[in-house]
Amino acid sequence: MTGFRASVLTIYPEMFPGPLGISLAGRALQSGTWSLEATQIRDFATDKHRTVDDTPAGGGPGMVMRPDVLARAIDAVSPADDTRPRLLMTPRGRPLTQPRVRELAGGPGVVILCGRFEGVDHRIVERRGLAEVSIGDYVLSGGEVAALVVLDAVVRLLPGVMGNHTSGDTESHEAGLLEHPQYTRPALFEGEEIPPVLTSGDHAKVALWRKTEALKVTRERRPDLWEAYSRRGPGERDPG
Ligand code: ADE
Repeated sequence: MTGFRASVLTIYPEMFPGPLGISLAGRALQSGTWSLEATQIRDFATDKHRTVDDTPAGGGPGMVMRPDVLARAIDAVSPADDTRPRLLMTPRGRPLTQPRVRELAGGPGVVILCGRFEGVDHRIVERRGLAEVSIGDYVLSGGEVAALVVLDAVVRLLPGVMGNHTSGDTESHEAGLLEHPQYTRPALFEGEEIPPVLTSGDHAKVALWRKTEALKVTRERRPDLWEAYSRRGPGERDPG
């Protein structure tokens, strides 16, 4: 086992591993469960200013990353026979989902290109088979933070990273539902008690209460998930 291999292409390599160097992901990085290589895209520019961008064809504001520079950077870390998926972080991508995260975690690794400026020349997307991925309907200043989000979500699923903490399919999104609320001690907090069913010791009743709460919160907050869940046949839903 050589571990999950992540290669990130960015003009800010110093942003990595960043938060992924501490806690569970950081320990897994140190132990070799996964590896991270952040490559400076500017190293593949050819002019003395190390230019990676130019003005958009057709006019308009901002700058666009050049395909020739990006191609050299990608080819240096991910040759043609690399089986790892290649992602481009961009707000115009397909939304990241937990099934996609699970799929990535089950593979050999990932190559992530972090977009900056107004975007990247679209020819690189086609020529290097980049899957455009968004982490949500808002605009970040670049793909770096989005890449950290993808890697955080993936690394926690790698074997041995979470240990006992893996909530498995009861956590939010794993069963297509949001999670039920959680409680712990003290039994009485500012006059509020823990729902009595949770301290009853009746495991079947606890499971039923949690399922009911998960359905309720999903319907209230995420009509999109509720719709998808309701459409599924009982056999395709999680047990319980
Ligand atoms: N870059 C800028 N905004 C982004 C987003 N929402 N998702 C992924 N990459 C981005």
